[in-house]
Amino acid sequence: MALSAHRGEILHFLSDPATDGEQAVEHLEDGILLIEDGYIKGLAEAEKIVEQLPAEVELFHHKESILVPGFLDTHIHYPQCEIIAAYGTQLLDWLETHTFPAEHRFSESAYAESVADFFLDELILNGTTTALVFGTVHPQSVDAFFQAAEARNLRMICGKVMMDRNAPDFLQDTPASSYDDSQSLIERWHNKGRLGYAVTPRFAPTSSPQQLEMAAKLLGEHSDVHLHTHLSENTRECEWVAELYPESKNYLDVYDKFGLLGRRSVFAHGIHLSEGEWCRLKQTDSTIAHCPTSNLFIGSGLFTYQNALDHGVKVGLGTDVGGGDSFSILRTINEAYKVQQLNGYNLSAFQSLYLATLGGAKALDLESCIGNFCVGKEADFIVLDYQATPLIEFRMKHCKDVKEKLFVLEMLGDDRAVRETWIMGQRLK
Ligand code: GUN
Ligand code: ZN
Repeated sequence: MALSAHRGEILHFLSDPATDGEQAVEHLEDGILLIEDGYIKGLAEAEKIVEQLPAEVELFHHKESILVPGFLDTHIHYPQCEIIAAYGTQLLDWLETHTFPAEHRFSESAYAESVADFFLDELILNGTTTALVFGTVHPQSVDAFFQAAEARNLRMICGKVMMDRNAPDFLQDTPASSYDDSQSLIERWHNKGRLGYAVTPRFAPTSSPQQLEMAAKLLGEHSDVHLHTHLSENTRECEWVAELYPESKNYLDVYDKFGLLGRRSVFAHGIHLSEGEWCRLKQTDSTIAHCPTSNLFIGSGLFTYQNALDHGVKVGLGTDVGGGDSFSILRTINEAYKVQQLNGYNLSAFQSLYLATLGGAKALDLESCIGNFCVGKEADFIVLDYQATPLIEFRMKHCKDVKEKLFVLEMLGDDRAVRETWIMGQRLK
């Protein structure tokens, strides 16, 4: 039995601050997080338990910092590391010019393995401990990813892209091959340790109706796999979907008609949605992954978080690398704040940290095992550094409470503000 105790300032969420206000937050100025064999064993004020800790406990004291649960990235593409920060295009041209050529290289397992290693190390540097990840059309890209995630003991979800039209020949599969390849990846990897599979049709324009039917068949055969795709990101994309699927009443309805909505369905973006689409997302308990860095970088538009709140639709944060220009969830919160400023909504420090932790876990339907420090959960957590940079350290001296300190970290922080990343009680950064 391995027992460790992490002492310091600690904060996590018990519920959503949007509905429960500050009741949703548990904050200890000087707390101890107890971990046994990789799982949370308890959380208490240090003065109440420090004297009673068993002699064999390994004690860590984190100063000038705050411990929070690891970040969740609810939408990201690992094969797009090499095109992050590509100049000059919007979605459809960006896919043709930058994305598809980069994804071509993942037919080679050795290349996929090297990028998977780089990608996961980058997530850990940034304090992201769980992500919902796109592979490429090549099943070997997903094997490479899961091997690398397993080696680091990370809780990760990934899937092979299903794409049988409107893409270069070298990146296309067929309805039958996409079904077979996804099926065997599910058999190899789904629920293996901390890994999970997501059925991943790229987006409506690159899947035929026959392929979306295959995606639905996979979901029907495996009740706990995820569905991961894009939705209503760019206005030209939305017009194209209306031409390709004239019988559907809106973009979401394309997926809905095939039975692809549900508690484990995650739709990236959702910028240009109608009232009817919001209602349907709520009725089916589906999730939106909000990706502000990407939406700004490739000029897609401003997501209205208020719509999600008004309809009670679950939201997680996504970096959408390489459409997004940063791996950092702190940078993502910074951009989310600015996008909502333009919409006339003030995204609070607590609300955004909730989205990055427990809210993200709920968005991925993983809150029974990660997202906060409740007893029995997996001990994935990070230590955010109040002295990460000279500016952050200086600015902290002028903060009156934890809300202000967190907001400063969110606005000024990046990977430098993540001092340590711990996975199941083991330090990886
Ligand atoms: N829509 C379809 N494919 C993609 C992709 O790779 N990135 C983004 N941001 N949107 C997409
Ligand atoms: Zn994406």
